[in-house]
Amino acid sequence: MKHLIDPMDLTKEETDEIISLAEDIIAHRERYQGSMSHRKLATLFYEPSTRTRLSFTSAMMELGGNVLGFSDAKNSSVSKGETVQDTVRVVGCFAEVIAMRHYIEGAQLYASEVSSVPIINAGDGSHSHPTQTLTDLLTIKRELGRIDGITIGFCGDLRFGRTVHSLIKALSRYSGVQVVLIAPDELKLPDYIKQDVCDKYGVKYREVQTMEEVMPELDVLYMTRVQKERFLDEDEFDRVKDSFVLDARRMALAKKNMAVLHPLPRVNEILTEVDSDPRAAYFRQVENGKFVREALILKLHEWKNDPAHTMPQHERPVYDASVRCSNPKCICNNEHAPYKFHYGDGGQLRCWYCDSKVR
Ligand code: CP
Repeated sequence: MKHLIDPMDLTKEETDEIISLAEDIIAHRERYQGSMSHRKLATLFYEPSTRTRLSFTSAMMELGGNVLGFSDAKNSSVSKGETVQDTVRVVGCFAEVIAMRHYIEGAQLYASEVSSVPIINAGDGSHSHPTQTLTDLLTIKRELGRIDGITIGFCGDLRFGRTVHSLIKALSRYSGVQVVLIAPDELKLPDYIKQDVCDKYGVKYREVQTMEEVMPELDVLYMTRVQKERFLDEDEFDRVKDSFVLDARRMALAKKNMAVLHPLPRVNEILTEVDSDPRAAYFRQVENGKFVREALILKLHEWKNDPAHTMPQHERPVYDASVRCSNPKCICNNEHAPYKFHYGDGGQLRCWYCDSKVR
């Protein structure tokens, strides 16, 4: 069975297959209507969402299927203390596929260890957001006609921005991609992405201090919101919240066909004066999210019993009772998930569920 917990759970070929199918759905929507009739998708959202939850719902409805679930875990038996593993065991009796968002990192990976149906990670804390990645790849392909060879600038909150972490991982498998990281010191990309992804797969990256110095060379500018909900220290949030703002003056420095992406929601990092610029692709990106989720639902259903499409074989976990995951928002520090680890590419022991360093 195939789950989608991390973008690297899909091979490059599987990723491209999903993107091609999404393009075909866009071109021939009527062909796919009814292809999931009498099937059910469960959406289990432990954290707020507009785009991801509603696009999954809309996608399943377009395919003729039904949707059940909760948008607020407080209204479910989670409020009585039910664990994520027990919740997916139960919901797997009612639905053929589960899309889950959780504020706890690694929750979906932990849930997938016992699930009888495919689990789709719809965002886990600051860690990963693989269906946003599929949305972003489809958007880049549709806006520029290619993914290979692009120069992409990631701007804003690269520390907590799970969409950035996931997209860099996925882009590492395309050739000639160059990454420019535009962030204040407090919001820099985590080391594990630099070491285990950029260094491992030879992604060229550099860090800069201002948008102006790189705007003219970018094919894609990927803006992000500074995520107040991830900060443990409010003063630190206040210091960095207005770090980078995209306005018409900065857009004037960019290429004529640069695409501006943003996973949304935005707060003030893109002024509304940019919305009417044809290069502003972020609302087209939202619609792409629905088509790519249709394609994902169809493919996970098709692959469910196909031995050619299983989860990648990871190295065996390391059990070491003398260390703990350092991340207070990891599943292993919140539910009774086992403390297990793997060796990152820098040779450091990292948490199996959230990739954080050990303490
Ligand atoms: N891009 C995204 O994940 O948006 P939501 O939080 O509204 O789902």
